[in-house]
Amino acid sequence: MNGSQKTILVTGGAGFIGSNFIKFIHQRYPDTKILLLDALTYAGNLDNIPPSLKSNGHFKFFHGNITHPDIVNKLVSEADIVVHFAAESHVTRSIYDNAIFFETDVIGTQVVANAIVNNPVELFVHISSSEVYGTALRAPMDEEHPLNPMSPYAAAKAGADRLIYSYIKTYDLPAVIIRPFNNYGPCQHLEKAIPNFIVSALLDQPLTIHGNGESSRDWMYVEDTCEALDRVLHSERDRVLGQTINLGTGTDTSVVEIARRILRLLNKPDSLLQFIEDRPGQVTRHISSTEKSLECLEWESKIELDEGLARTIEFYQNNRQWWERVMWMKELWAPKG
Ligand SMILES: NC(=O)c1ccc[n+]([C@@H]2O[C@H](COP(=O)([O-])OP(=O)(O)OC[C@H]3O[C@@H](n4cnc5c(N)ncnc54)[C@H](O)[C@@H]3O)[C@@H](O)[C@H]2O)c1
Repeated sequence: MNGSQKTILVTGGAGFIGSNFIKFIHQRYPDTKILLLDALTYAGNLDNIPPSLKSNGHFKFFHGNITHPDIVNKLVSEADIVVHFAAESHVTRSIYDNAIFFETDVIGTQVVANAIVNNPVELFVHISSSEVYGTALRAPMDEEHPLNPMSPYAAAKAGADRLIYSYIKTYDLPAVIIRPFNNYGPCQHLEKAIPNFIVSALLDQPLTIHGNGESSRDWMYVEDTCEALDRVLHSERDRVLGQTINLGTGTDTSVVEIARRILRLLNKPDSLLQFIEDRPGQVTRHISSTEKSLECLEWESKIELDEGLARTIEFYQNNRQWWERVMWMKELWAPKG
């Protein structure tokens, strides 16, 4: 890409990781053109894109759905690179109403992949998820770990992930499958654990934890993910094309420990912890192998958990209006179960 005039189509870039990625790329490569396609579901928010970027000639927003071939074909035909984030992304919602997960995550991915078959691009980065693995059968979890998705969300992501793999084999799709582990950072929706804990703590409300909170995840600060994706964009193509690559830190931390650290960083008492019944389809442990990302991308995560949490807390402390808007729309996103 080398500071050139490449055009990147970013699907789902009004959501959490996608918007952080767009800001990251724009800051580092101001000449790169960015096309953002987003349906603006409850999870998409154009406030995640700064006004200076919205008014920049190198950025264009398209309000549309990835399951609609017309707009997807048109935008893919204008792009050199496609980074595909758009998805329904919340495990708990998928337990209560899963049809939209299969429509968006599987059929939507099929539409994007077909558009690329018809209008070839130089690189397609498919954002899959560590959820496709289910609970760790061994630690750390490498890319050969069996796929045992344990929730409808995870099953939909596994379907999309294997769909792209089949397109690589069948149609020579110039794709890389990326499996990020649990991301956190600025602009993450309140339905997810870390922002939910932070906002609850700021409001002196209970931090609700499913089960005993001992299930653990490999938590990665979103800027590390953006850095890794930048490496994907800039790696020699034959090092990454056709590969499946985990993005994680190689360490895991329990959910209750995360909640305790947030309380500590905010000087709030542990008495705010509240344990509720466990969620079905719960993954008990996730921990990523970092070997392949190091080998293919020469990349390792850099931001330690306490630093990432402190930066994330700072965002929610300084952007109350951002999360009050999300809370105000709770009727749209809180699981109905
Ligand atoms: N957040 C994580 O920890 C994590 C971890 C691993 C993988 N992932 C994957 O990364 C991607 C981004 O995750 P996120 O946390 O930023 O999600 P998010 O829910 O914050 O954002 C999803 C975005 O996709 C858009 N979208 C949804 N359906 C759409 C459709 N049909 N057409 C067009 N746009 C649509 C939404 O409006 C939103 O802007 C997803 O594919 C997710 O599965 C996320």
